[in-house]
Amino acid sequence: MNILAIESSCDETAAAVVADGCDVRSNVISSQIDVHRATGGVVPEVAARLQLETIVPVVEKALADAGTDWGGTGDGTGIDAIAVTQGPGLAGSLIVGLETAKALALAKDKPLIPVNHLAGHLYACLADVTAFAFPYLGLVVSGGHTEFVLMRGHHDFELVGSTRDDAAGEAFDKVGKLLGLPYPAGPEISKLARGGDPSAYEFPRAMLDQDNFDVSFSGLKTAVRQAIRDRIAGDQKLPKRELADVCASFEAAAVDALVTKAARTVRATKPSAVLLGGGVAANRRLRASLSRKLGVPVRLTPPEFATDNAAMIGIAAYWRRSEALNGGGRFGVSADPSLALGPAATP
Ligand code: KG4
Ligand code: ZN
Repeated sequence: MNILAIESSCDETAAAVVADGCDVRSNVISSQIDVHRATGGVVPEVAARLQLETIVPVVEKALADAGTDWGGTGDGTGIDAIAVTQGPGLAGSLIVGLETAKALALAKDKPLIPVNHLAGHLYACLADVTAFAFPYLGLVVSGGHTEFVLMRGHHDFELVGSTRDDAAGEAFDKVGKLLGLPYPAGPEISKLARGGDPSAYEFPRAMLDQDNFDVSFSGLKTAVRQAIRDRIAGDQKLPKRELADVCASFEAAAVDALVTKAARTVRATKPSAVLLGGGVAANRRLRASLSRKLGVPVRLTPPEFATDNAAMIGIAAYWRRSEALNGGGRFGVSADPSLALGPAATP
């Protein structure tokens, strides 16, 4: 089954062709990072307009790269269904992808499969699985979310814990801004951290002694601000060595908090494996530390599928193909900026 997947939840416009939930035949991503760098973050209105400009060429390229066109349905050569991110994300950005997918579904007479963006991040860890061993514990760490979710079956989720304030990626981005680093700062901080001492600063690991599955990053961000407040005034930058030490110490604190709470959640929920998904899943320290400390196998998102992409939406869609919408049902779907991961729909 060939699925054309479209993802436009934030500042990436992406399309992919995925066969049978595992074979990524094309994966095209048009990033707006250069534009948003100038404003130090994503301006939703600007993001939506850029989505509109790029979505058609991105879809055409995904089809061309996969060596397919619309073709027939079910003959193995053409596109059998269209998958699209329904939410969560920025309303304007989501609408562009969703309405494009609906229009294509109508014009080409294909079924439509709406997908939760966060489910996509978790399914990116499962592309190579043939025998699923539920439950999994999903750890979604992105720019907008930090969630521990128990995955009991296909598209069947229960939220176990989350952040009380900033998402993990947001914390990296905000600390990066304090340090004068370009948006998005996650990759930059982790690169600089490699040359620094993670014990140079003692930054707080919030809520570790609390008997829950939640994390918090706002205190950590404030601690970094205080540590550098007297060191950089105006446009000044920290000396290279100190910058690396702050990055390493911040990264170590953020990773420690996530790994400690993940370990507690594993003990309570006893999953067969942990899935690490979302943009922050690209972080090397987090990948290494989770793999070492959890005592259960950790399935890491392949780095090329960690940040937003449509391949993950195509993989996730395959596992809800029985719920594909046809006829008028396709047009009743609307974008949901705060769509949550939840239990499977009862048949
Ligand atoms: O999943 P994603 O592409 O978009 C959302 O759905 O939010 O995640 C983007 C986030 C950004 O906050 C970015 O700074 C962070 O992922 N990120 C990283 C790394 N690569 C991307 N954070 C820490 N370390 C990284 N290597
Ligand atoms: Zn994402």
